[in-house]
Order: sequence, then C-alpha cells, then structure tokens
Amino acid sequence: MTITVLGSGGWGTALALVLLENGHQVRLWSYLEEESATLRAKGENPVLPGVPLPGELELTADIACVKGCGAVVLATPSFAVRSTARQVKPLLEPGAVIVSVSKGVEKDSSLTLTEVIAQEVGGDHPIVALSGPSHAEEVGRHVPTAVVAASRDQAAAELVQDLFMNGRFRVYTTDDVVGVELGAALKNVIALCAGVCDGVGCGDNTKAALMTRGLSEIARLGEALGGRKETFAGLAGLGDLIVTCTSMHSRNRRCGIAIGKGTPPERAVKEMGMVVEGYYAAANAKALADKTGVEMPITQAACQVLYEGRDPKEAITALMARDRKHESEESWV
Ligand SMILES: NC(=O)c1ccc[n+]([C@@H]2O[C@H](COP(=O)([O-])OP(=O)(O)OC[C@H]3O[C@@H](n4cnc5c(N)ncnc54)[C@H](O)[C@@H]3O)[C@@H](O)[C@H]2O)c1
Repeated sequence: MTITVLGSGGWGTALALVLLENGHQVRLWSYLEEESATLRAKGENPVLPGVPLPGELELTADIACVKGCGAVVLATPSFAVRSTARQVKPLLEPGAVIVSVSKGVEKDSSLTLTEVIAQEVGGDHPIVALSGPSHAEEVGRHVPTAVVAASRDQAAAELVQDLFMNGRFRVYTTDDVVGVELGAALKNVIALCAGVCDGVGCGDNTKAALMTRGLSEIARLGEALGGRKETFAGLAGLGDLIVTCTSMHSRNRRCGIAIGKGTPPERAVKEMGMVVEGYYAAANAKALADKTGVEMPITQAACQVLYEGRDPKEAITALMARDRKHESEESWV
C-alpha cells in the first residue's frame, strides 16, 4: 500500500521505517521544507541518530503527497492535528484510513485527537488510534515493542494491525478508542509528575505510589468519559505509564526533572525544544475532571505546580496529607 506519514519528528520517522520494512511505499512529510532537506542531506533524523533513512523512503514537504494513499498517518504534535487534518481533507483518496499516533487532547475543546480528526475529515474515512509504550528511539533500533490499534471499525483496526505488525513491532486491536486515547494523553501528566519527584529527590517508593494512584485517577476519569476499565490496565494505559515514568527517553519526565530541580515550568518546557504534551494535557485533564466531577488530586497538584507557581515539594507534602481513605474508595478496579 502507498502510505503517507505526516510529521517527520522522531515518532513519524520511526513509524515510517516500520511501514517501509513491511514492504509498503512510504512518503514522510515534513511541516517545514528545511526539515525535509535536513533528512535528505544527513540521511538520518537528528532526533534518531544512528538510524539510517533508506533511499526508498520518499522525503517531501509537499502536502499533495497524500494523494493516492490508502492510509495516512498523522504524527504531528497534538496542537497541529486539526490544522493538518483540515489541510489534507481535500486531497484524501475515498475511504483512505487515517491513523492517529499523536498523544494529547485538543487544548480548548478537550476533544480527543480522533474526535478532532473526525470533525475535520468527516465520516467517510475510518479513523484508528495507534498507541502504547513505544519510544521512537527504541522502535528505530528495532527493540521489540507492542502497541494497540483502536477503532470502532474493527476492519480498520485490523488493517492497521496488518500494515504495522512485524516480528519486532506487535500490534493488538481494541474498540475502546476513548480509553486508549485518554490513557495516552493523561499518562504524560503523570510522567511530568514522576520527573518532578525525581528532580526534588524523592525515591522509588514515591514514584511507585504516584504511578499507581495516577493510573487510578486516569482510569476514573476515562471510565466517566466512556472508556473501559480493562483498557487502563493495557498497553495504552499501564504499559505507556510504566515506560514514560521510568525512561530517560521520556521528554515529559525529563522536563519534570528540570522543574523539580527548580527551573520555572514554562522555561523547562521551552528548553526541551520538542513538544511536551503533558504540560498542556494537565489543563485538559483538570477541565475534564471539573466537568465530570471526578476527583483527580495528582492532576490538580500538577496544575498548581505547572501554571500557578506552587512549590513542588509543598505540593507533594499536601498530597501526602490528604484525608485518610480506604484504598478502593478511589480505586478503579
Ligand atoms: N517520540 C516518541 O517516542 C513518541 C511516541 C509515541 C507518540 N508520540 C507522539 O507523537 C507526536 C509527535 O511526536 P514526535 O516525538 O514525533 O514530535 P517532535 O516534537 O519530534 O516533532 C513533531 C513534528 O511535527 C512538526 N510540526 C511542528 N509544528 C507543526 C505544525 N504547526 N503543523 C504540522 N506539523 C508541525 C515538526 O516540524 C516535527 O517534524 C506527539 O503527540 C507525541 O506525544 C511520540
């Protein structure tokens, strides 16, 4: 199949290579002409050093490359998903499958990214979210990885499974799109918090508590919004939370470490030089929690630290001093 990957950041590039290895004809579109020129000149993406880009990978900054494609992969930062989907809509082949691989929630609307795409491209295109514990740096190095393809259209989920699956990249399917997308977006908030805990000098106990209670509040919100409990124990929930809270590949965690060490949050985000989705997703999570009445104490504390200048150590102390609870009172299992 001919497939375009929109967005030549680390993730778009790594996925384009998986598709190329699987025998597809692949076009990798860059938002900026200079980005495409750099990939061509260097023969690799600077964010994936040591991962060569084979000559068969078509590198372009011309959005018309989506013409004639049976599938289009959207791999831009979440803030650019709507504008990119709007731009490609008139160029799409009838019935072309759209694969959403970005992780986030739209800033002002708090819509999930497949909802944003559906609004822009209409109902004629099956939409699949592909998500799970998958750092581009490791996929680029052929490290065994497992993800999940989520769609209400099972045939489309299975098509995406077939397109991407190989001996090093395993793809499951599910119909719980809401659960998969919220798991992916909200774990970035907990990853920032995990970094903050590391930055202020907390230990492994703290991080394990944060991840467990963080997953609990993600799942509570996700269920209230229509996701299924078991999805949060799966690859796009627990799986992605583990990888993003423990790995130094995670820019959300690295940004959190800088904040924990005293860098003002806005500056820490700027200094990362790449999109830090968790910084924006925290505000969305809080808005959704307020709307649904779901209690999300960690997310709330994250918002105070990220946007209101609260001292991280003080926020951790306040979380530890919350009212006594039965563990299952606020649990999700
Ligand atoms: N990097 C990973 O390991 C990984 C893994 C899974 C999911 N993701 C998700 O994939 C998405 C992209 O991540 P990434 O690591 O490739 O990001 P990145 O920051 O490396 O780059 C994203 C690309 O988007 C382009 N872009 C910037 N502004 C744009 C605009 N206005 N319109 C269109 N394109 C624009 C940039 O030029 C860049 O090529 C994020 O939502 C991220 O959470 C990343």
